[in-house]
Amino acid sequence: MGRKFFVGGNWKCNGTNEEVKKIISTLNAGDVPSQDVVEVVVSPPFVFLPLTKGSLRPDFHVAAQNCWVKKGGAYTGEISAEMLVNLDIPWVILGHSERRLILGESNEFVGDKVAYALSRGLKVIACVGETLEQRESGSTLEVVAAQTKAIADRVSDWTNVVVAYEPVWAIGTGKVATPAQAQEVHAELRKWLHANISPEVAASTRIIYGGSVNGANCKELAAQADVDGFLVGGASLKPEFIDIIKSAE
Ligand code: G3P
Repeated sequence: MGRKFFVGGNWKCNGTNEEVKKIISTLNAGDVPSQDVVEVVVSPPFVFLPLTKGSLRPDFHVAAQNCWVKKGGAYTGEISAEMLVNLDIPWVILGHSERRLILGESNEFVGDKVAYALSRGLKVIACVGETLEQRESGSTLEVVAAQTKAIADRVSDWTNVVVAYEPVWAIGTGKVATPAQAQEVHAELRKWLHANISPEVAASTRIIYGGSVNGANCKELAAQADVDGFLVGGASLKPEFIDIIKSAE
């Protein structure tokens, strides 16, 4: 079964109004493969969602970087899945390692968030990945399996889930995983989906890689059999994001 290449741009906590307008105009002018070949989603900070949604080319889509774990209400500072749906934002990133590690989001909490966001009709980029210590102690596969299981325990329909494998040691460090390292974990994750969910979900779910992806290293990573795209941080704020999108071809 063909899995459409997916390129996400996670802008994280960056940008001014002017900078966001500039990024959007660069994206709008970019010559990229058609939507039949690649799905492109950019994720600005919450406050820039309406601006981005309103001025971004129609073949690119928008994601929020997080949302609350249940229906909105008295949760100061949170943004609900319902609000994103109301603004017609189709995607949300959940379980990013910056939220897991800095804000203490547990596997279970991330699983609950994924399940709730899906139940509201959002599509989810669900992030998993090990720290350097975990990799060095040989527990990479165990860690990503536990993170994925917490989602699988709460989700039965995987149609609207993209899994982003983002090794923490590769994020923002310039130390990208080698194509072989990425392929190894992606293949193991797909095996896990096959054994624990179904062969169909394993064959159709996109597993994308994130961590120091740039215009120079994306081609080789994209050529790996189980790498179905990227979640890009720093380079998604720069014109080279267009080159990364082109690696879909
Ligand atoms: O979500 C994307 C990410 O964490 C990777 O960031 O800056 O290493 O591409 P970066």
